[in-house]
Amino acid sequence: MSRRIIAAGNWKMNKTASEAVEFVNALKDRVADVESNVEVVVGVPFVCLPGVVDAAKGSNIKVAAQNMHWEESGAFTGEVSGAMLADLGVDYVIIGHSERREYFAETNETVNKKVHACFANGMKPIICCGESLEQREQGVTADLIRYQIKIALLGLSAEQVADTIIAYEPIWAIGTGKVATTEQAQEVCEVIRNLVAELYDADTAEKLHIQYGGSVKGSSAPELFAQKDIDGGLIGGASLKLDDFEAIAKYNK
Ligand code: PGA
Repeated sequence: MSRRIIAAGNWKMNKTASEAVEFVNALKDRVADVESNVEVVVGVPFVCLPGVVDAAKGSNIKVAAQNMHWEESGAFTGEVSGAMLADLGVDYVIIGHSERREYFAETNETVNKKVHACFANGMKPIICCGESLEQREQGVTADLIRYQIKIALLGLSAEQVADTIIAYEPIWAIGTGKVATTEQAQEVCEVIRNLVAELYDADTAEKLHIQYGGSVKGSSAPELFAQKDIDGGLIGGASLKLDDFEAIAKYNK
């Protein structure tokens, strides 16, 4: 089967709401003619979501939030729930990014709760996993990734996993300009697909989308996205510039 390629931007804490709308208005013209198997997603700050969802209407751009809380509502000052995101028309939620794990105490367990809440609200999760340089050098990458993903997926049905995106992002490659080699990226993405085949079944593993993330550029995207277990990218820095993001979305042109 052929899976679609998902080019998802992760803007992190960049762009104001008005800058975001201006950017998406320009982006939708640029990506109107991407190949039909390519899906373009922008992952934007919470305050940008209403304007971006509105700007993206009628285009082929999908919208992601960068985090969410697992409860529907309640006394959680400063948090945003899945119900709030779904009500806006958000399609995806990035969950468990390494920056959230490092700076905001995100754990495998909170990732799992958020993934359930994401599905309960009719959205799809982009679940991030990845090892530090130290862990890679210690040779524990595959074990660590398997552990992160096993917990992230706990309690999900096969149908939900088939609708999941997992982003493999080696921490040492994020924002550093050090892209993992194609072989390193493919190797870990294959570990993830094999794990899902083990936990679920071959059909579910075939349907799962796996992205590579970490310093992806227009120049590295073609080779990365051609790998058998890599179905696109989660793109930080290069998703903030129209030319760079367009080049990635049109990697095969
Ligand atoms: P980068 O970020 O492309 O700037 O390395 C990727 C990410 O953190 O998702």
